[in-house]
Amino acid sequence: MADASQTHAHTKNARRALITGGAGFIGSHLAEHLIAQGTAVTVIDNLSTGCIENLEPIIDAIRFIEGDVDRGLASLDDDIHFDEIYHLAAAVGVDLVLDDPITAIKTNIHQTDAVFEYALANGSPPTLIASSSEVYGKPNMGVFSEEDDLLFGATTITRWSYAHAKAIDEHLALAYWNQHRLPTVICRFFNTVGPRQVGRYGMVLPRFVESALKNETLRVFGDGTQSRCFCDGRDVIEALVRMVRSPKCAGRVFNIGSDHPITIMELAQKVIETLGSSSAIELIPYCDAYPPGFEDLRHRKPNLDRIKEAVGFEPRYPLAQTIEDLAKTISSAGSIPSKGGTR
Ligand SMILES: NC(=O)c1ccc[n+]([C@@H]2O[C@H](COP(=O)([O-])OP(=O)(O)OC[C@H]3O[C@@H](n4cnc5c(N)ncnc54)[C@H](O)[C@@H]3O)[C@@H](O)[C@H]2O)c1
Repeated sequence: MADASQTHAHTKNARRALITGGAGFIGSHLAEHLIAQGTAVTVIDNLSTGCIENLEPIIDAIRFIEGDVDRGLASLDDDIHFDEIYHLAAAVGVDLVLDDPITAIKTNIHQTDAVFEYALANGSPPTLIASSSEVYGKPNMGVFSEEDDLLFGATTITRWSYAHAKAIDEHLALAYWNQHRLPTVICRFFNTVGPRQVGRYGMVLPRFVESALKNETLRVFGDGTQSRCFCDGRDVIEALVRMVRSPKCAGRVFNIGSDHPITIMELAQKVIETLGSSSAIELIPYCDAYPPGFEDLRHRKPNLDRIKEAVGFEPRYPLAQTIEDLAKTISSAGSIPSKGGTR
């Protein structure tokens, strides 16, 4: 375990935040946002899907601990006190979950419990966890609200292990609130996209952007009429901070994302148009893209009434802007070959 930076640019009285998974796509934007506000930030990340370059602009201003969440927490001094915790570390992406389900399941349950145990033993600061729209499972009802029933596929279909693990995380969070009054906040992220996201674990937008930048064929799985709502990560992080700091969000579940659907075919066309690419689009049947029995979902759109009422939430980044900014980070990082997905 390496401690890359012990230098803190903030004052002694600054608010202190802990971000697990802070070297990832969403976590690094959150870290930057908090530092800009004058909050002292500690990041724990094992750099499995995140990278230290994501934290480059603020590396001298944060404390970075490289390693798994549970080991990173154990390494913290007893007298350190956090005012808020954001638990974003997880095994993320369809490809990762299908390729190594044991690690993904263990990471997504065990590390979340380690965070709650730590928070409970260290002053019970508000603790926000990243859940996922995946927990809604496979009903085709179009719009999903937080109190809806969840419907998963059979346990023999590996993709559902991610949804099960995130649902267990939610149960744990609610149990820590109900039994110990640990103020937990659960965020069900719908498709969150933007600069620093990578396509190699199956995320659809970076995968399309990588292909479009090389004028290579964009591979759309299924018939392309399935739809998702894409929200820029930079819109999401401001709401995360408001939620963790709002006592009325404790012990509650919130959808977070955009409620403007776009089909995956339209998304591919928009990427090509926005980047002025000469790429073609090819439809790939699900049976050629995924293991037998893989189930994709037709439509996913969040009901955002609850988050709007609690902290106000109005995404501002137009999708074209997100695509352009993502293309800049992919171009500067160099692209990595990927397989696919609709996330
Ligand atoms: N981006 C989305 O569309 C989306 C949708 C639903 C849920 N989420 C959730 O949001 C969170 C952040 O996702 P992201 O898109 O930024 O992905 P990401 O892969 O960029 O970030 C996850 C980070 O966690 C780190 N990590 C993984 N396992 C770890 C471990 N055991 N110990 C320490 N660090 C570990 C990774 O290195 C990475 O930096 C995740 O919990 C994810 O499940 C994201």
